[in-house]
Amino acid sequence: MTQLSRKPPSVIAIYPGSFDPITNGHLDLIQRGSRMFDKLIVSILQNDNKQPLFGVEERTEMLREVVHVYPNVEVDSFDGLLVDHAAAHSATVLLRGIRAISDYEYELQMALMNRRLRPTIETIFMMANETYSFISSRLVKEVYGLGGNISGLVPPSVEARMHQRMSKSKLKGA
Ligand code: PNS
Repeated sequence: MTQLSRKPPSVIAIYPGSFDPITNGHLDLIQRGSRMFDKLIVSILQNDNKQPLFGVEERTEMLREVVHVYPNVEVDSFDGLLVDHAAAHSATVLLRGIRAISDYEYELQMALMNRRLRPTIETIFMMANETYSFISSRLVKEVYGLGGNISGLVPPSVEARMHQRMSKSKLKGA
């Protein structure tokens, strides 16, 4: 059996993701995580292969705007291996959300790979409120891009930024 160290006096968790953009499902998880851990660091992946709608700086701003109400939540970004980023912050937990069984396979693979890379870091899964279980950043962007209503799916400040972004691209296209 792997010999693991005892619980640290203060538990720091990393909540990693693309957050392009943050949804109310993410926010629900952040709120739950902030009650469980001494410190929760929301970490945005910098070099994602996906073509993002919002740059890392803008995503950082959007996240900070909505998490400032939780004093033990911080926002940063990272490049490279997630477990190295976690270790650099003395984090012992990776927090991930599971919406439906379809998320499970990918999440299991990542959790086991991360455990292999750094056995001292534990992945913890939490379920967002069922109201948000169908929401994903990808669908929010798709629905909004096609003129659908996204209110209630993302924080109002994010909705405003999406509006700005789409108006800008329409102007460019005009
Ligand atoms: O919100 P996402 O896009 O599902 O988040 C995926 C994320 C950022 C958690 C994942 O891609 C990641 O951890 N990337 C960092 C690179 C890494 O450590 N890869 C090995 C982990 S299996």
